Amino acid sequence: MALLIQNGRIITADADYTADLLVEGETITAIGEGLTAPEGTRIIDASGKYVFPGFIDPHVHVYLPFMGTFAKDTHTTASQAALIGGTTTYIEMLVPSQSEALREGWERWTGLAGGHSACDYTFHLGVTRWDDETEATLRELVAQGMKSFKVFLAYKGAFGIDDHALYQTLKLARELGVVVTAHCENAELVAELQRKLLAEGRTGPDWHEPSRPEGVEAEGTAHFAAFLEMTGAEGYVVHLSNLRALDAALEARERGVNIHIEVVIPHLLLDKTCAERPGVEGAKYVMSPPLRDRRNQAPLWDALARGDIDTVATDHCPFDVSQKAMGEGDFTRIPNGIPAIEDRVNLLYTYGVKRGELSLARFVDAASTRAAKLFGLYPRKGTIEVGSDADLVIYDPAYRGHLSAATSHMNNDYSAFEGWEIEGCPDVVTVRGEVAVEGGQFVGDPGRGQLLRR
Ligand code: URP
Ligand code: ZN
Ligand code: ZN
Ligand code: ZN
Repeated sequence: MALLIQNGRIITADADYTADLLVEGETITAIGEGLTAPEGTRIIDASGKYVFPGFIDPHVHVYLPFMGTFAKDTHTTASQAALIGGTTTYIEMLVPSQSEALREGWERWTGLAGGHSACDYTFHLGVTRWDDETEATLRELVAQGMKSFKVFLAYKGAFGIDDHALYQTLKLARELGVVVTAHCENAELVAELQRKLLAEGRTGPDWHEPSRPEGVEAEGTAHFAAFLEMTGAEGYVVHLSNLRALDAALEARERGVNIHIEVVIPHLLLDKTCAERPGVEGAKYVMSPPLRDRRNQAPLWDALARGDIDTVATDHCPFDVSQKAMGEGDFTRIPNGIPAIEDRVNLLYTYGVKRGELSLARFVDAASTRAAKLFGLYPRKGTIEVGSDADLVIYDPAYRGHLSAATSHMNNDYSAFEGWEIEGCPDVVTVRGEVAVEGGQFVGDPGRGQLLRR
């Protein structure tokens, strides 16, 4: 059915105006004042609301075997939660174990998403080992439309790769013109510090942050940047959490290294005192890089407002309370990750735009447009133009509410933002021209999401 969205305030990364939008089929077919629509068109009144391009979360984990367990979401739950929160596309980290071939990982990850995701999705291809087979598979998948790789400099003995594999991955990425996303923490330093702290009897979740301090991440970031510089590849630092790491990335960019920066909602809003709560209460807040000292947040917000930090993602990675309890008595066994896929947009709007940290334009840019541009989805996604996919968020700035696990659609039993106030919420969300969310409820087709080839 065609849609005519009337009188909304349309906000993109570079425009702000009031107009009507006509959607026919999967795309936006007209933008203007006083548009008329063919018979049978559904009319949506967006007066007093914003119309944003569908938001893009460039870093999520839905299916993830990790630290002896599995992240809790399925594409059914994660995509519906994403949509209710205004995210219409996500990029999942496809991370094979080091003992399986990338091709096997590809079959498994795409098999789990296909027919189950309600929103559109694509993947960063995880390189967890380097050999001829990996290289051949990467070449094939890039030829089929994949646009980005993922490497971990952390997680020694699990996903982490050595410098030889890093160099080869970046060399190939440079040749193929794809971006390499990287988790930047020095794995050796983390392993040494974990051993030292455990030997001293420091076992609680409050020791997670001291086991991977700011300098460990700054080293990982500088290390990645040096490898980008030597190979000429384009890189993207995921979940950068602190000022020293930011300085390392910006200093590299200053000397010409092609490096982009992502921050994630937990680092912008939560701090390390959350993980200092005893036992499983603290474990709920264990992720890597860790939640930091609060003094890091202002510089991150400033860099985000300036556009020096490119994107805001979630690093959505849900483990429930019983999984978090696996690390009772040994913080190195707490599954790392915090769920947030549903809450990113509302939190960024409330604590970014409403608090005066971000302009509306920069909010849209950081949560949608920049990711679309970096990862080959623009202008199909990430903007509102004639010909773009009709992924739209009609956003109600008059909404007032609170976040809670009890009302969340993510498949988890706690919220890291329990009780947090939000001052805005998506009212209607469309994916390629079909209404997927209305009045805060999912009303779409659960398996309609497409794998985006770029
Ligand atoms: O703690 C985190 N971030 N868990 C997910 C895996 C990763 O490193 O992104
Ligand atoms: Zn990571
Ligand atoms: Zn180094
Ligand atoms: Zn992640």
